[in-house]
Amino acid sequence: MKIRLFDTREELDQYAAGLFVDLVNAKPDAVLGLATGSTPIGIYEKIVKRYNNGQVTFKHATTYNLDEYVGLPRENEQSYAYFMNHHLFHHIDIPSERTYLPNGLAADPAAECARYDEMLLSRQVDMQLLGLGHNGHIGFNEPDRELHAGTHIVDLQKETLEANARFFASMDDVPKQAITMGVGSILKAKSILLVVKGADKAEIVKRALQGPITTEVPASLLQTHANVIVLLDQEAGRLM
Ligand code: GLP
Repeated sequence: MKIRLFDTREELDQYAAGLFVDLVNAKPDAVLGLATGSTPIGIYEKIVKRYNNGQVTFKHATTYNLDEYVGLPRENEQSYAYFMNHHLFHHIDIPSERTYLPNGLAADPAAECARYDEMLLSRQVDMQLLGLGHNGHIGFNEPDRELHAGTHIVDLQKETLEANARFFASMDDVPKQAITMGVGSILKAKSILLVVKGADKAEIVKRALQGPITTEVPASLLQTHANVIVLLDQEAGRLM
């Protein structure tokens, strides 16, 4: 595990964007694993900037997102599909048919999970971007006595619902379930880029990266992967 600390978020975002741009330039048909949340927004901005400067094309790339809320249509501004279009896909030349997210409105959610896993089995993700939840979740793999390997439906925990409430009009509007890649699907990626920002995550960063490997801190399982890069701002890396 390589850990890098950055003085500013600007530098962190620039560096992370550079990793994706370099990957796609070296391998135009790269498969990118993407994430939502506030953490990657700056990274996507930098990627778009570099695309606009003619430094990269995504014409042949494919993306898979980690997760999606259950019950939100793609047009809902809080859906992760909307988020990805808004922050990245609509600003670059990636063909929309190669940007995959779980379908949170699938009539048969179990079949949707199986379909997503089949796709992930057919194409290995080259680089998976991850944020970190305050309770150590990655994607929407919440702390538990057991974790799922594959894509599955998850009941979101109180802490996660509260953290997500800031994006919704009221707590009642926050979706209670999501479809998420499992920890096994995430660990299948060739390389993983974990990005964490903010003082409120310093504690969980330490537990995830230096504490025992436990399903109670899903991100701690990243310690078992051979190719993880962790990018931290000063605040998130305060205890490291
Ligand atoms: C959500 C997402 C995660 C993300 C987390 C942290 O739970 N499913 O993928 O890492 O939020 O979000 P933020 O970056 O806004 O702190």
